[in-house]
Amino acid sequence: MSIKACIFDMDGVIVDSAKYHFVAWQELAKEIGVKFTEHDNEQLKGLSRVDSLERILKMGNLHLDNDTKLALMDKKNQSYLQYISSMNEEEILPGVGEFIDELMAAGMKVALGSSSRNATVILERIKLLSKFDAIIDGNKVTFSKPDPEVFLKGAEAMGLKPKDCVVFEDASAGVKAAIDGGFRCVGIGEEQHLNQANFVIPGFQDFRLNDLIQRFK
Ligand code: G6P
Ligand code: MG
Repeated sequence: MSIKACIFDMDGVIVDSAKYHFVAWQELAKEIGVKFTEHDNEQLKGLSRVDSLERILKMGNLHLDNDTKLALMDKKNQSYLQYISSMNEEEILPGVGEFIDELMAAGMKVALGSSSRNATVILERIKLLSKFDAIIDGNKVTFSKPDPEVFLKGAEAMGLKPKDCVVFEDASAGVKAAIDGGFRCVGIGEEQHLNQANFVIPGFQDFRLNDLIQRFK
């Protein structure tokens, strides 16, 4: 089966922003009296901002009204934006920029499938925005991962079918979204969180287009 396009998650795949999401959520959790560890953060990866807040509130058994929730999400986002304000190309994860260039040189399409509403800002800051044929982010979907909508819209925007595309994901919710949508999926990170993926790699340092083609022959 030939691969015509790759769809990349952003946070934790292209850029190491997961650490900033973590510190921003941890600050907020502390403020509302909820204990929030790095392990808890793993469960939030790939979830939308609102779903992430709901999980944290559930951990603390807190029930808040909508306005308070909106204010808390805004506060978290302001602090997150502060953390990423000095982000630049140096924060692109090792090898991923080269991998994208290789895809483009081979005539393959490249899309983004991220739950983040800050995707365009980040891609601009790390100077990768112009490389994407399609960008589907948290502003363009109704249902967030593990729903496949974000990747289905990405494939559609490129005029392709899910079976033509490979999704790269670091979050278990994202891997589930890709597999449920009919995509092939490469997990980025540790096998234990991502066992639904077709295979898992630690990152793009030693991963080239030829490795991808060989694995999906
Ligand atoms: C990504 C991250 C999540 C984050 C979500 C929303 O999927 O993995 O941790 O909550 O995007 O991001 P945003 O930038 O819109 O708050
Ligand atoms: Mg991610």
